Amino acid sequence: MRAFITGANRGLGLELTRQYLERGDHVFAASRQPTQAAELQALRQQYADRLVLLSLDVTDAASIAAAVQGVQAATDGLDVLINNAGVYPHAGSGDAHQRLGQLTHDDAIETMQVNAIGPLLVSQALLPLLRAGHKGRILSISSGQGSLTWKATGDPYHYSASKAALNMYMRSLAAEIGNMGLISVLVDPGWMRTEMGGEHAIQEPADSARGIIRLAEQLHVEENGSFVTWQGQPVPW
Ligand SMILES: NC(=O)c1ccc[n+]([C@@H]2O[C@H](COP(=O)([O-])OP(=O)(O)OC[C@H]3O[C@@H](n4cnc5c(N)ncnc54)[C@H](OP(=O)(O)O)[C@@H]3O)[C@@H](O)[C@H]2O)c1
Repeated sequence: MRAFITGANRGLGLELTRQYLERGDHVFAASRQPTQAAELQALRQQYADRLVLLSLDVTDAASIAAAVQGVQAATDGLDVLINNAGVYPHAGSGDAHQRLGQLTHDDAIETMQVNAIGPLLVSQALLPLLRAGHKGRILSISSGQGSLTWKATGDPYHYSASKAALNMYMRSLAAEIGNMGLISVLVDPGWMRTEMGGEHAIQEPADSARGIIRLAEQLHVEENGSFVTWQGQPVPW
C-alpha cells in the first residue's frame, strides 16, 4: 500500500505516517520543511526503503508540481491520499481572533487557501497516480466545525467556513471521480491533543490515526462522497 500524507511533520499527519510505516506500507510524507522535521528524519533512518520525504506547501502550485514529480520518480501509482495539512489561525493563543470585530482578510484567505483550496489542487495533481493505484482513495481531514447543522457559534468563522468549503470541494470531486473507481470522503478526526487542538483536547492523535487508517482500509464505493467521523459514524453536513 502506498500512502501520500500532507502536513506529515507533526500532529495527526505524523501519527498517520508512523502507523502506516509500522504496518509495512510505503509512505510519501509531505511537509513544508522536511529538513527541519526531526521526527520524520528519525523515521527515515528507520524505514529508509519505505519512506520518501517530500517538500510540499499546499498553497503553492510549483511546490505541488514538484511533489508530484517526487512521487513519480519512486512509483507509478498511489493507493491513498490523506489531505491532512490544515491551519486554525491563532489556535491556542487565548485570543478570540475569529470573532466578530477581530476578523481579517489575511486570516480568512490563509485559512481558505490551506484548508480548502490546497487539498483540492493537491488531489487534482495526484489524480493520475491515484487512478493508477489500487482502489484509489482520498481522505480529506475535515472537522465537526465545518458542519452547518452543528453550527451554533460565530467563532471560529474562518476555520468553520474553510472546512465547509473543503467538504463541498471534496464532495464535488467525489461526484466526478466515482465513475473512475475512486473514492473521496471527508473525515472528522475528533478533538485531538496536538498544537492545533491544545492540551485540553480529549483524544490522542494516535487513536484518531488508527481509526482513519482502518476507515481507509474498509471504504466501499457506496461511501464515496460521505462525511464521517474517525470511527466511521456519519456527520451531518
Ligand atoms: N486537532 C484537532 O482537534 C482537530 C480537530 C478537527 C480537525 N482537525 C484537522 O486535522 C488536521 C491535522 O490537524 P493537527 O491537529 O494535526 O494540526 P497541527 O498539529 O497544527 O498540524 C498542522 C499541519 O499542517 C501543516 N501545514 C500548515 N500549513 C501548511 C501548508 N501551507 N502547506 C503544507 N502543510 C501545512 C503544518 O505544517 P508546519 O509544521 O509547516 O506548520 C502541520 O504539519 C487539520 O486538517 C485540522 O484542521 C484537527
